[in-house]
Amino acid sequence: MAFQTSPHPPLILAIIFICLSFTTTISTHYAPHYACDTARNPSLKKYAFCNTSLDIKTRVKDLLKRMTLQEKAGSIVSVADSIPRLGIPSYGWWSEALHGVSDTGPATWFNKSVIPGATSFPQVILTAASFNESLFYAIGKVVSTEARAMYNTGVAGLTFWSPNVNIFRDPRWGRGQETPGEDPVLTSRYGSTYVRGLQEREDGDKERLKIGACCKHYTAYDLDNWTSVDRFHFDAFVTKQDLEDTYNPPFKSCVLDGNVASVMCSYNQVNGKPACGDRELLEDTVRGEWKLNGYISSDCDSLQVMFKDQRWAKTPEQVTADALNAGLDLNCGDSLKNFTALAVKKGLVKQSVVDRAVTNSFTTLMRLGFFDGPPSKQFYGKLGKKDVCSPAHQDLAREAARQGIVLLKNSLRSLPLRKRSIKSLAVIGPNANATRAMIGNYAGVPCKYTSPLKGLTDYVKTVYEEGCDVTCNSTAQFQKASDAASKADAVVLVVGTDLSIEAEALDRTKIYIPGQQNLLVSEVAKAAKGPVILVIMSGGGMDVEFAQCDPKITSILWVGLPGQEGGGALADVVFGQYNPSGRLPVTWYPRSYVDLVPMTNTKMRPDPTTGQPGQTYRFYRGETIYPFGFGLSYSSYVYKLIKAPKLMSVPLNQAHTCRSSTCNTIDADDSVCTNLHFDVDITVTNVGKMSGSHTVLLFSSPPMIYNAPQKELVDFKKVWLAPGKPSVVRFRVDVCKRLSVVDEEGNRKVALGRYLLQVGDIKHYISLKNSRLSYILRRLPTIDTTAALKVVIDVAVSSALVAVM
Ligand SMILES: *[C@@H]1O[C@H](CO)[C@@H](O)[C@H](O)[C@H]1NC(C)=O
Ligand SMILES: *[C@@H]1O[C@H](CO)[C@@H](O)[C@H](O)[C@H]1NC(C)=O
Ligand SMILES: *[C@@H]1O[C@H](CO)[C@@H](O)[C@H](O)[C@H]1NC(C)=O
Ligand SMILES: *[C@@H]1O[C@H](CO)[C@@H](O)[C@H](O)[C@H]1NC(C)=O
Ligand SMILES: *[C@@H]1O[C@H](CO)[C@@H](O)[C@H](O)[C@H]1NC(C)=O
Ligand SMILES: *[C@@H]1O[C@H](CO)[C@@H](O)[C@H](O)[C@H]1NC(C)=O
Ligand SMILES: *[C@@H]1O[C@H](CO)[C@@H](O)[C@H](O)[C@H]1NC(C)=O
Repeated sequence: MAFQTSPHPPLILAIIFICLSFTTTISTHYAPHYACDTARNPSLKKYAFCNTSLDIKTRVKDLLKRMTLQEKAGSIVSVADSIPRLGIPSYGWWSEALHGVSDTGPATWFNKSVIPGATSFPQVILTAASFNESLFYAIGKVVSTEARAMYNTGVAGLTFWSPNVNIFRDPRWGRGQETPGEDPVLTSRYGSTYVRGLQEREDGDKERLKIGACCKHYTAYDLDNWTSVDRFHFDAFVTKQDLEDTYNPPFKSCVLDGNVASVMCSYNQVNGKPACGDRELLEDTVRGEWKLNGYISSDCDSLQVMFKDQRWAKTPEQVTADALNAGLDLNCGDSLKNFTALAVKKGLVKQSVVDRAVTNSFTTLMRLGFFDGPPSKQFYGKLGKKDVCSPAHQDLAREAARQGIVLLKNSLRSLPLRKRSIKSLAVIGPNANATRAMIGNYAGVPCKYTSPLKGLTDYVKTVYEEGCDVTCNSTAQFQKASDAASKADAVVLVVGTDLSIEAEALDRTKIYIPGQQNLLVSEVAKAAKGPVILVIMSGGGMDVEFAQCDPKITSILWVGLPGQEGGGALADVVFGQYNPSGRLPVTWYPRSYVDLVPMTNTKMRPDPTTGQPGQTYRFYRGETIYPFGFGLSYSSYVYKLIKAPKLMSVPLNQAHTCRSSTCNTIDADDSVCTNLHFDVDITVTNVGKMSGSHTVLLFSSPPMIYNAPQKELVDFKKVWLAPGKPSVVRFRVDVCKRLSVVDEEGNRKVALGRYLLQVGDIKHYISLKNSRLSYILRRLPTIDTTAALKVVIDVAVSSALVAVM
C-alpha cells in the first residue's frame, strides 16, 4: 500500500460522523459499524437482505436489486458510502493485520482511552523462520480475536488486507521483511495457514468468516524504489515459467488451501499490462481457475497509478472500465466511486460487470456478519477490550520470536551463557535498546516493548552503550563501547537496520550492516575479555563475512524484526531458556551480489549469456554467506532414513501423447496424475544434552529438464525432541504436486527420470518410470536403506553441505 493516497484522519472522523448521525441512539463515541439493526429500526425487517434465515446468495441478490448504480459504485471503494435509506452505514474496507492488528489501514485505530494497542508479533520474516505451521495458525487466531474485539469496540473494520505473500526475490527489497521469504512452498504454507487462522471460526461455520483476510500483492511485486525505478512505473518482465513456479504459487495456495476472502492486485505492470487491468491474471486465473470465493481489490490507488503514472488509457473512466472488465471488484482509493457510472453510461463496461463486483464485495461483508444486526448479539459478540493484549497473547508473541531466532555461529559452544557465571554483561549497539525498530513495517501500537536491553537485564546485571545509531556515521562513542566490553564477562552486540533503512518505498542498495557498524563490532570484539555475541536485527540478509571469520566473535544470531517481546525472546535464547530452532527463510548473499544482479531482473533462472547467477537458493549458483534453511541449535541431531522407494511407476493412460519418442514427461494435471504418492520416513534423534525443537527439511533436485530448479523444498516438519529419544518423521510426497516441474509454457509436468531427495546430508535417489501396462499405481517394494544411509550429522555441517549442492 502506498502512503501517498492513504485517507487522512479527517476522513476517518467523517466516517464516524456519518455512522453516528445514522445510528443516533448509540451513545458511546465509538460504535461498531453494521447494517440491519432491525430491533432499533423495525422497518428494516421488510428487507430480505436483512433476514438472517435466508441464504447469503439470496440476501445479496435482494440488496443489489434495491441499489442505484451510483450507490453500487460508492460501495466498492475503500471508504464505502453509507446508504441511509437501506440502513447501511459507511464501511471502511481498509484494515491491516500483517503481524498483529495494525493502524496502517485507516479503518483501524488506537486510542489511549479505548484500545491503546494490540499484540505486535514478530515481523513475518522471523515467524516464517520458525518453519512451524501450528505457530502460523496460532498467531492468525490471536490476531483475528483481537481484530474482532476491536471491531466490536468500534475501532476496526472486518476486512484486513494481510498477509503479504510476494516472494522475497531480492535481498534489497524494503518490504521483504513483511513476507515469509524466498521459497514458494514455505510462502504458500505460511500464507494459507495464517489466512485460515484469521478467517476460520471456532464454531466451525464454514460459510461465515471470523475476519476477512487478503493475499497481496498479485503479482510479481518485489521492488519498491530502487535507483531510478519505482513500483508505480516498474514493468516486471516475467516468463510463463517463472510465473507458474515462483511468483504465483503462494496466491494459488491462499485461494485453494486457505480459502482467502480477497486477493489484491499490485501496482506494477506484468509484461506490459498493469496487474489490476489484466483479465488473464484476475478473471481467468484468480476467479476462473482458482475460483476465489471473495473479492479482488486494487492496491491504494492502483487505478490512479494506471491513469497517471502508467498512462494506461486516455480517460479515468476507461481505466475504471478496463479494471472492472479485467475482474477487479473493489478499489482502494475512490476511482471506482468517481468513474463507474460514467464508464457505464459511455458503454465501456456493462451493468452486469458492476453487479459482479458489488456481489463479490457484499457477499464477503455478509459472510462477516455485517448485515446481521448488532455484533454484540453475534458469535464473537463477547469479545472486547479484555481480549486485546491479554497475557496469553503477549506470551505467544515472545514464543513466536523464540521459535524464529536463528543461530548462525556458535564457536566453542560459547552459547548459551550461564547466568551464574555472568556478573556483568555489556549490551552494546544501535539496536541494543530498540523498541520501534523491533516491529517493522505494518505494525500497530504494541501493548508494550521488551527491548534487548530489558530482556537481558531481567536475567543479569548489564551495562549499556549505544556505540552509534543505525546510520552509524560517527565513531565518537566507539571507545566508550570498547571500554564497557573490556570490563564485562560477556558482550551482546545488537546491530542491524530499522525503518530508515529497510521499509516500504525504500529498498536497500547495500546488503551489509549499515554505516560503520561493522567497525564498531570489530573494535568492541577486540577489546572484549569474554564471549562476544553478535545479534543482527534486520528484515533482509546481511553480508557478515567479517564476523564469521573473526575468532573473537564467538556467536552470531539473527533475530529478524522480533516484535514487541523480541528482547525477552533473545534473552531466553542467550541464556538457554530456549534452544534455538529457527532456519533462514532467505539466502544471505555476499555484498558483491548487488553489483551483479540488477533488482529489475525478474528472471529467476541463471542466464549464461548475461552472466546472471540466478536468484534464490532454487536457482542461484554463486557463493553464499549463509544458505536458505541454515540454522544451528545447542543440540545435534542424527538422521536415519528408514523408508523411501527407489522406483515408482507412473501409469500413462492410452490417450496420453508423448512429446518425444522417449516420453519424458506427463502433465501434472493429467487424469492419471492423481493420488500418486510415496512416503519418506526418517528417524531424528537429539544427541545433544538439551531438549529442543528441530525442523526437518526435505528437498528435491529434479532431473535436468526445462531448466528446473537445482533444488527445491518439498516439505518440512518441526518436531520437539528430548535428548536420546528417536522420533519418526514421515513425509508423504505427492508426486504430481511436489515433484512436478514447470515447462517454458507454464505447464506443470512430472518428469520421468531420477530425482535426488535430500534431508540433511542424507541423499536418496528415486526414479519415476513410465508404465503403460497398468492404470493404477504400482509401487515397487520399498528398499530398506538403513544400513547404507545411517548418517550422524551435526545440523551445522549438514546445512553447510546442502548449501554447496
Ligand atoms: C479517544 O477516545 C475518547 C473516548 O471516546 C475521546 O474522548 C477522545 O477524543 C479520543 N482521542 C482521540 C485522540 O481520538
Ligand atoms: C425470513 O425468511 C424466512 C425463510 O424464508 C421466512 O420464514 C421469514 O418469514 C422471513 N422473515 C421476515 C421477517 O420476513
Ligand atoms: C474523486 O472525487 C473526489 C470528489 O470530487 C475528489 O476529491 C477525488 O480526487 C476524486 N478521485 C479521483 C481518483 O479522481
Ligand atoms: C531504553 O529505551 C527506553 C525507551 O525508549 C528509554 O526509556 C530508556 O531510557 C532507554 N535506556 C537506556 C539505558 O538508555
Ligand atoms: C549522520 O547521520 C545523521 C542522520 O542521518 C545526520 O543527521 C548527521 O548529520 C550525520 N552526521 C555526520 C557526521 O555525517
Ligand atoms: C524513492 O526514494 C526517494 C528517496 O530515496 C524519494 O525521494 C522518492 O519519493 C521515492 N519514490 C517513491 C515512488 O517511493
Ligand atoms: C509449534 O508452535 C506451537 C505454537 O506455539 C507450539 O505449541 C509447538 O510446540 C511448536 N512446535 C514445535 C515442534 O516446536
